[in-house]
Amino acid sequence: MAVKPPRIAVLASGRGSNFRALAEAAAKKDLGSAEIVGLLSNKKSAPALEIAKEFGVPNFLVESKKFRTGKVLDRAAFDSEIRNTLMGLKPDWICLAGYMLLLGPELVKSFSNRIVNIHPSLLPKFKGLDAQQQALDAGERETGCTVHLVNEELDDGPTVLQSRIRILPEDTVNTLSERLLPVEHRTYVEAMRLLCTTPFQIVAGRVLFAGKGYVEDRAE
Ligand code: GRF
Repeated sequence: MAVKPPRIAVLASGRGSNFRALAEAAAKKDLGSAEIVGLLSNKKSAPALEIAKEFGVPNFLVESKKFRTGKVLDRAAFDSEIRNTLMGLKPDWICLAGYMLLLGPELVKSFSNRIVNIHPSLLPKFKGLDAQQQALDAGERETGCTVHLVNEELDDGPTVLQSRIRILPEDTVNTLSERLLPVEHRTYVEAMRLLCTTPFQIVAGRVLFAGKGYVEDRAE
């Protein structure tokens, strides 16, 4: 029996360069037979929505601001809308690509170990916002990015793949982020290729791929 192509949905709030990398990889069949079946954004102004149009990926807008009273988000109602939209896409994988909101526990539970995130640090170091600045402030000599499965905690969950880069003495947050971004793109593509094509187990907080040892660690 033919294996069905894995279906990937992407959630993005902004620029969308990681989404673009995934869309390009899918178009070139670099993710095996996987297809990107939808891009969902919580922000109307997100350039990621335009990238979706460019690649012919169906795009969906669930505006978080419509679920806010003042600064307070009606998490249950918003997540339920996100969940319904995602359910309609029948995704095997949900990729967070610069999605700037936390996913509520119910949403995470609905897609257990099928939500993937990329974070610009070597987790567990420097969770949360401004991870590159956090690495600089801590005087680190290297940093990197982590692709991981999402659990209910912020920037937590089993590691799929990490890549590292050196921090140069003259680096600013801008130069460091700029050098890290293409590494993020390659790491996310490689992680999704593995997840879509290779059987895996989760062992001791890491995604262990068949025949691969475990987390690949490439120095740039
Ligand atoms: C990336 O640095 C990613 O690691 C982080 O948010 C940023 C999103 O950038 N989670 P882009 O929207 O993919 O260009």
